[in-house]
Amino acid sequence: MKNHQQNKTPFFTALKDYGEKNVAPFDVPGHKLGNIPNDLQKYMGTKVYKLDSNSPIGLDHLNKPTGVILESEELMAKACNADKAYFITNGTTIGILAMILTACKANEKIILPRNVHKSVINALILSGAIPIFIKPNIDKKLGIANDITYDKVAKAIKENPDAKAVFIINPTYFGVVSDLKKITKLAHDNDMLVIADEAHGAQFYFSEKLPVSAMEADADISALSMHKTAGSFTQSSVILCKGERIDHHRLRSSLNMLQSTSPSSLLMASLDVARKTMYFEGEKRIAKTLENVKETREKLKKIPGIKVIDKDYILAQKSYDYDETKIIVKVSDLGLSGFEVYKLLMKQSNIQLELAESHIVLAVITIGTTKAHLERLVQAFKKLSNEFYKQRDKLPKIDFNYQFPEAYARPRDAYHAPKLIVTLEDAIDEIAAEQVMIYPPGIPILIPGEIISKEVIDDIKFYMKKGSALQSDLDSNYISIVDKENWIKWED
Ligand SMILES: Cc1ncc(COP(=O)(O)O)c(C=O)c1O
Repeated sequence: MKNHQQNKTPFFTALKDYGEKNVAPFDVPGHKLGNIPNDLQKYMGTKVYKLDSNSPIGLDHLNKPTGVILESEELMAKACNADKAYFITNGTTIGILAMILTACKANEKIILPRNVHKSVINALILSGAIPIFIKPNIDKKLGIANDITYDKVAKAIKENPDAKAVFIINPTYFGVVSDLKKITKLAHDNDMLVIADEAHGAQFYFSEKLPVSAMEADADISALSMHKTAGSFTQSSVILCKGERIDHHRLRSSLNMLQSTSPSSLLMASLDVARKTMYFEGEKRIAKTLENVKETREKLKKIPGIKVIDKDYILAQKSYDYDETKIIVKVSDLGLSGFEVYKLLMKQSNIQLELAESHIVLAVITIGTTKAHLERLVQAFKKLSNEFYKQRDKLPKIDFNYQFPEAYARPRDAYHAPKLIVTLEDAIDEIAAEQVMIYPPGIPILIPGEIISKEVIDDIKFYMKKGSALQSDLDSNYISIVDKENWIKWED
């Protein structure tokens, strides 16, 4: 039975009323509800400006909500089977920083997979927590890192009984999930918090046909990017909490330290209405979407040179479960890399994919994906197959060992150490002082404090050669390392 209270959109409704009531605005923002016409306004109309307000009377304050924002957060919490929700207008990136700052003080341990998003590494730098990394399941055929197994978590917990928290990605960028329920039970039995990264899992809250959500698994806290898969504006996310273990005072102060004091009202309104739509329509529309995705997978499977990954494949790799709204397509048998296909699909067929790796590409499907979009995807792959299959040699098997660099120092220590800037070649065997990653997916190849191996440098060069978006703080041929001679390593 649906709860009719979920029809309410307290924040959006109050914001709309405010925009319509002809206020004489002597506050910020300076566009004064749309009184400085510009090209964007001409294109979008004034309405969107009328909805862009910064905490006037009646619209509550995100940093300490007591009115309509709180009401909307409460509805979000109820819709997601959580005890409390916090709106975020700076993405799950900030949610992750706040969750880890809440759970761990400096030098406290946190157990986590190595294939975490860069925001997790930044949270380690900010908090000073000590990472206990678990190597994820590696799919060598596809060249991707997946979930972590219960057994590996159990081992890490046993070896680190003093750890404060276990951090789980639910699901990974590619849609693979761990046995979160079982892991949560074990962590709780060992007095550890369970923190979830659900940047790619907001849809789990609105369908029984998808893997278990963090709140359903009784995890303590989770950040979800409603904007990625549940229809709200980019950068709007939510933190959900369950149970008694979270220190809400610390969470509030962490969020207030990290978030803007001028949170976007448009983003908050978009969270409010996305929750309502997903609550009432999600179940049905996700079921329909999954049917469409199944049909699409069947069609893709018939295309020569294309391999489409399905749940059976993922389960056969001993992963726990799979979010079927992610379509992974292996393209290397066409003689093309994922990076080439990513570009070709846009050039030839006007199709934007989510990301590419050396042998695969990823398409993210939501209830906003139409059947016509899916059909275009199929046709685009047919076109590629006609053009390239058997015209080129298949790409060689991936030499994907998933480097797991040795850690020498806490990320925070390396980050604050004196630094030298050297060429990639000169960095071998040195200690990294910065993160290097390709984006997307934004999973660091190297993090501060890790020893830079030759293999890692080879990986970086490989990605540079493929023209993928390599992100680091410096120009791509240089890297920042710890100046060991002038470094007093913080022991203890
Ligand atoms: C696994 C993972 N976690 C966290 C994030 C950060 O989410 P957001 O973009 O909402 O800040 C991302 C973004 O891509 C991600 O892939």
